[in-house]
Amino acid sequence: MGRYQDSYDAWTADAEGFWANAAAEIDWISPWDKVLEWNGSGARWFTGAQCNTCFNAVDRHVLSGHGAQTALIYDSPVTDTVTRLTYGELLDAVSHFAAVLQRRGVGKGDRVILYMPMIAEAAIAMLACARIGAIHSVVFGGFAAQELATRIDDAKPKLMVLASCGIEPNRLVAYKPLVDAALDLATHKPDGCIVLQRPQLEASLQEGRDFDWAQELVAVGDTRADCVPVRSEDPLYILYTSGTTGEPKGVVRDNGGHMVALKWSLKNIYDMDPGDVYWAASDVGWVVGHSYIVYAPLLQRCTTVLFEGKPVGTPDAGTFWRVIEDHKVNALFTAPTAFRAIKKEDPDALLMSKYDLSSLKTLYLAGERADTDTIKWAEDALKVPVIDHWWQTETGWAIAANPMGLESLPVKYGSPCVAMPGYQVEIVDDAAKPVAAGVSGAVVVKLPLPPGCLPTLWQNDEKFHEAYLAEFPGYYKTADAGYKDADGYLYIMARTDDIINVAGHRLSTGAMEEVLSAHPDVAECAVIGIADPLKGQVPLGFLVLNSGVERVESELEKEVVSMVRDQIGPVAAFKQALVVQRLPKTRSGKVLRGTMRKIADAETWKMPATIDDPEILNEITLALQSIGRG
Ligand code: COA
Ligand code: AMP
Repeated sequence: MGRYQDSYDAWTADAEGFWANAAAEIDWISPWDKVLEWNGSGARWFTGAQCNTCFNAVDRHVLSGHGAQTALIYDSPVTDTVTRLTYGELLDAVSHFAAVLQRRGVGKGDRVILYMPMIAEAAIAMLACARIGAIHSVVFGGFAAQELATRIDDAKPKLMVLASCGIEPNRLVAYKPLVDAALDLATHKPDGCIVLQRPQLEASLQEGRDFDWAQELVAVGDTRADCVPVRSEDPLYILYTSGTTGEPKGVVRDNGGHMVALKWSLKNIYDMDPGDVYWAASDVGWVVGHSYIVYAPLLQRCTTVLFEGKPVGTPDAGTFWRVIEDHKVNALFTAPTAFRAIKKEDPDALLMSKYDLSSLKTLYLAGERADTDTIKWAEDALKVPVIDHWWQTETGWAIAANPMGLESLPVKYGSPCVAMPGYQVEIVDDAAKPVAAGVSGAVVVKLPLPPGCLPTLWQNDEKFHEAYLAEFPGYYKTADAGYKDADGYLYIMARTDDIINVAGHRLSTGAMEEVLSAHPDVAECAVIGIADPLKGQVPLGFLVLNSGVERVESELEKEVVSMVRDQIGPVAAFKQALVVQRLPKTRSGKVLRGTMRKIADAETWKMPATIDDPEILNEITLALQSIGRG
């Protein structure tokens, strides 16, 4: 039996013992009363224990004599900067900024919204919140003011922390006006905003409400904040993610279970030891950034790379290889779309030959389905194992992976490999009955979920239950569809809800439909995700106009495209809409989005038995053909 199977069996035999063992890797202020408290809903891990996540990620390493080791490398081709922070320097920066937060009245349990690009201060602010028991909620910079306002009203932050701008390859993105607009839209009003002024584009500050980050640091002088003990089950952060409606879901992460799971994962899945260099090329606004740019590598005393750039265009498709060489990166984690972008620009990987990539042991891919072409291209070019693994914002770490720290299992293309200890993954039919190997169904995970996974949604147990637990009693619904083969390998094929995956970013087509239907000329609409060779999927809108309205299609398209950009954000990548006479529907009025998507992607499709008027699908096909699809 291999080490993976041993580990999985050890968990199956004694789940609580398994996680208690893993928890020995963490420094607890006081021990837990119970390893697991579970009432059939969200699991609470290590209840009764006191701990501090920042202590385990930073202080602990300084106290054990590793203060001079590099903790974080900020590499920013868009500003031509590379800076390194040792664990000692990180501790000073974090405890200093934590003192600023305390001076501004932030205490245990208070929420702080961070709206920051990929700069070291984003990680510093996250850790500073963790240090004083405040709950951070990072909002990705590519979201617009309206989305930020929704999160402000849900999280009700005491304070906002932002940078004056983000830097995209083609433009500077002024963050402050977006925050100002969000604060105007939001009902909840935080006490103030701390603004980090970046020299590329400084923000104007509003007297009495906005405070300059640098001046705030000066104002606290030599004061440094100590770690505040929190309960294991207290929230560390809230991360909003797209749900099936326009309302994002506030995924809650606890302190204790999260530390235990992430530290376990960094060794057992990613095979990283203290001192190794780990690089997750993602963004702190996403779950990958939370887990694998900030928390897991620091908990394991690795060096983490925080990269402010893109895989291409900053300055070229060789930038990833340059970063690997410069920082001797041992493991790289990114989304397949990043590799598709590189492959498109440099199909023969010629730029790779300019760099020494001998430090790299493994490439990990997640965030969207990894297509076989991309995996094979990366394997051929890099000559290291390429590991697809599957997880979600809700779980915080991999549900299925090839656990390289335990053993390297044979790769099967198209599969993110096998379930990790902690997850009993089943494929079930509509009646929640497990189906046979090779048969597709809903992918569900037997409750209770392991440490690290969401215990609930922010102040909304009811929505948590309804969204994840109600449909398949006894299981967590992943909202992914797929199958398991006879060897237990999982194949994750598609979402079962209206979520689409654009360049590894999770977006709700329902939210886009809400925006489109607010256009005065639009009577009804539908948005679907269609296949895209670079981004995996991109959204496409269908608009039915109010009767009597005649519009030049391209002008209307421009208007709705800019509405989605203004209200959801550029990250939605909504660029195309078609005007149609009618939408295809079932007799009960449900829009047949799945069939429309299959036509757009030239997949085989069957006429739905419940369709109201089959002729409409011909009209849709013609409309799609007019843009070269179908
Ligand atoms: N702030 C403001 N705007 C942002 C932003 C941010 N933090 N991040 C992205 N945007 C904007 C981009 O500028 C772009 O705007 P545009 O329509 O004016 O060009 C839009 O949002 C879409 O961005 P992006 O998804 O990054 O697409 P892209 O076309 O600029 O680049 C890739 C394509 C493949 C290079 C890019 O998506 C990428 O690097 N993906 C890596 C995957 C990844 O990080 N996934 C996260 C989960 S692991
Ligand atoms: P997010 O919450 O943004 O991480 O998105 C999670 C969703 O992305 C999952 O529910 C899947 O639909 C998809 N996803 C993530 N990783 C993979 C993968 N390795 N293979 C297939 N789909 C994936």
